[in-house]
Amino acid sequence: MSGDVVTTNDLGGVRVITVNRPDKLNALNEAVFDGLEAAVAGVAEDPAIGAAIITGAGEKAFVAGADIGQFVGADCATGEAASRRGQQVFNAIEQSGAVFIAAINGFALGGGCELALSCHLRVAATTARFGQPEVKLGLIPGWGGTQRLARLIGRGRALELLLGGGMIDAATALAWGLVNRVVESAELMAAALKIAESIRQVSPAAVATAIAAVNAGADLPLDRALQVEARMFGACFGTADMIEGVDAFLAKRPPHFVR
Ligand code: COA
Repeated sequence: MSGDVVTTNDLGGVRVITVNRPDKLNALNEAVFDGLEAAVAGVAEDPAIGAAIITGAGEKAFVAGADIGQFVGADCATGEAASRRGQQVFNAIEQSGAVFIAAINGFALGGGCELALSCHLRVAATTARFGQPEVKLGLIPGWGGTQRLARLIGRGRALELLLGGGMIDAATALAWGLVNRVVESAELMAAALKIAESIRQVSPAAVATAIAAVNAGADLPLDRALQVEARMFGACFGTADMIEGVDAFLAKRPPHFVR
């Protein structure tokens, strides 16, 4: 429904999830988290969907952060609970077996940047702006920004954003490795869809296992992370997708993976 704060529509086998509060630059409130949680669960429950795109309604913002109005009068316990709630929803995105792509169509600030960070891939419009401005509010990021940002772009650059509270443009985000690709605004959804559709052509089981391996190994010492990789590599053998993929290659035909 168009009045919902999170809407979904399917383009082929790709689900587009849109945060839909354009008059508030798609700021995240409890209703948006409920909607995102349901949408993420919906992707997992539908085997026909192998990829999802998260974007923001309107031309100005992807998501301009937490709804700041919700912070008025909140105490420490409420703040911590809000942090845990957002982290729970963003963890579900990161740990999904289906690929999530952020299509960043404007401001990605605070929780908006953190939402993009929880996705597996990020495509930005040239108009996108990124930042963690929480320090201007006497806060720090609570939805993964102090952790995922440093892991993705390194401590030095992450701290520049976290401590200064300023914004960087799309070209800088690309140079820093914060996004995978930058395209003109008019091309954004087509570019995100192209990536999603290419991922839908490969083995869904292998995609899910690759995501799980990267997540599982991310915070481990290399020797233990490589053990995780070996276990997951081994688990691929004998699967229907592996048998089909190898057979198709040797027979010089395209593989047909069943969802
Ligand atoms: N929470 C609640 N409302 C927000 C919001 C947020 N994070 N970001 C924007 N809005 C609202 C504005 O209050 C305004 O509402 P109004 O029309 O009812 O007054 C509307 O969205 C449009 O925003 P506005 O500030 O007028 O647009 P702008 O072009 O002048 O500035 C931003 C755009 C993104 C620079 C500015 O809105 C901003 O700094 N937002 C807050 C970003 C932030 O600190 N995020 C982290 C929160 S922890």
